[in-house]
Amino acid sequence: MLFRFLDRIDKISSIFELLAMIHAKHIHKYYDDLHVLNDVSLNIKKSEIVSIVGASGAGKTTLLQILGTLDFPSQKNGKLIINEVDIYNLSKKELAKFRNNHIGFIFQFHQLLPEFTALENICIPAYINKTSKAEAEKRALELLDFLGLKDRKNHKPSELSGGEQQRVAVARSLINNPEVILADEPSGNLDSESAENLHQLFFRLREEFGQTFIIVTHNKELADMADRKLTMVDGAIVD
Ligand SMILES: Nc1ncnc2c1ncn2[C@@H]1O[C@H](COP(=O)(O)OP(=O)(O)O)[C@@H](O)[C@H]1O
Ligand SMILES: [Mg+2]
Repeated sequence: MLFRFLDRIDKISSIFELLAMIHAKHIHKYYDDLHVLNDVSLNIKKSEIVSIVGASGAGKTTLLQILGTLDFPSQKNGKLIINEVDIYNLSKKELAKFRNNHIGFIFQFHQLLPEFTALENICIPAYINKTSKAEAEKRALELLDFLGLKDRKNHKPSELSGGEQQRVAVARSLINNPEVILADEPSGNLDSESAENLHQLFFRLREEFGQTFIIVTHNKELADMADRKLTMVDGAIVD
């Protein structure tokens, strides 16, 4: 009887895992004595836009890096499932491939490579993915068009405005058609008009391509526009 009950509970929790695009459970992170993430669990649905807010030092970036598979929890009981893939069962090589195919990153500082043009910067994740030059450029041009940057394709980052640089970074994050986009203070470095345009772009992308977004932001309007706003305090999600 007890076993049957436990078996059911187990099945129910796996249904949650299957329904979620991102399922994280029991995520802890320590830096020496500092408990930076304290048992974070969350479920994020496909095509959901979730914002994460909280004071500086609350652990937002650390959580985003872990959800993005760039960093790992300190405890073995941590679990992360993205797009039905159990991340901590992947080899290093499989994980790198998974990340490049399924997750797009947008950072506060665009991190474009200065010596390459907008078009070349956008194509880099596709080249890592061994996509042909012709195919990568075709997709990059479509994205540049969608983002209103077609006539900027041959410009280097230093020849673009802050807003344009950030849109190129968005295009780069989209080149491999990832299901999930993770953004860490994406408009933190933009003037209010460019920030507003970028925020509207996220919603247009979701309409158009159905992506799932997690956006860490200090921008109140953007945080409130999201389908759901999570607040972090001292390494935990409080609600
Ligand atoms: N690599 C690291 N080594 C030691 N401490 C770190 C490291 N990364 C972050 N921290 C600490 O972890 C806490 C949370 O940092 P972070 O996730 O960057 O917060 P947030 O993005 O919310 O500002 C901070 O106290 C920060 O100093
Ligand atoms: Mg941060």
